[in-house]
Amino acid sequence: MKYLPLCLLLFTSNSFALNPPDLEIGEEINETCAGCHGEFAEGGKDGEYPRLAGLPASYIENQLRLFRDRKRPNIPMLEYLDKGQLPEQEIVDVSAYMQSIQLIKKLPPLVEGDDFDAYERMMLTKRFLNIARIEGDIKKGQKLYKRECRTCHGREAEGNQDKGIPMLAGQYTKYLKKQVKLFIAKKRIHDTDAPDEELLADFSTTELDNIFAYLSVIDDE
Ligand code: HEC
Ligand code: HEC
Repeated sequence: MKYLPLCLLLFTSNSFALNPPDLEIGEEINETCAGCHGEFAEGGKDGEYPRLAGLPASYIENQLRLFRDRKRPNIPMLEYLDKGQLPEQEIVDVSAYMQSIQLIKKLPPLVEGDDFDAYERMMLTKRFLNIARIEGDIKKGQKLYKRECRTCHGREAEGNQDKGIPMLAGQYTKYLKKQVKLFIAKKRIHDTDAPDEELLADFSTTELDNIFAYLSVIDDE
């Protein structure tokens, strides 16, 4: 009987294989997140809360673990992650659900004489996110982006689902700028394969602004 407590411990530990993601449970968990990130994970307050919809599930999972383990700063979210409040299985479920949410970059134009369904329009508007164009040299930004960022973040800055790399197009500029500051200050690690070498540290403010300007117009096309 001496070994019973150990057996119980092993039985209840997280080291057991997780189930495949359950999108319905993920949707329920999302209700907690929606208070800040929005009903469709579209983000809010001009990027104080980032967009999560469409991010790679593996990326979302990793960030939740980094926040929980205090390896990436995020004070507002700690009260939702501390004390095992979001177990591994729920991390997997909610991340898969968020990856599956599709936002729209353009609202269909209202045509006079067409049937107008106010409810349908309202639902579309909630899923609408288009990043406002910011000042900067878009051409120069595009050139820099292609040379320095594209290999990882993708042709259209759409990220990489398989590698768990986040999109940069369609994400709030204010949020992206804040992350770049965190990377440069080494409060967040950009490339875990080369944690000591910050990719963005050598860019001037103008160069970064040009890249952000380019990123801000990709979703207009
Ligand atoms: C109290 C507000 C709040 C709630 C509730 C909240 N978040 Fe967040 N979340 C934030 C803030 C603020 C940030 C941005 C942190 C930063 O600026 O670095 C963030 C960032 C994130 C990121 C990083 C996104 C990226 O692009 O790197 C993920 C992933 C995330 N939240 C997932 C969740 C999930 C899943 C839930 C629900 C279980 C949730 N959040 C609930 C405030 C909140
Ligand atoms: C070697 C691959 C690589 C290159 C090159 C790269 N990135 Fe990244 N980037 C990543 C990875 C991986 C992440 C996610 C880090 C994590 O998991 O926390 C990331 C995250 C980011 C984020 C945070 C996004 C978010 O949702 O929180 C920003 C902003 C960013 N990169 C900007 C850039 C810019 C601008 C360039 C080009 C100047 C660039 N990156 C080049 C791999 C790269």
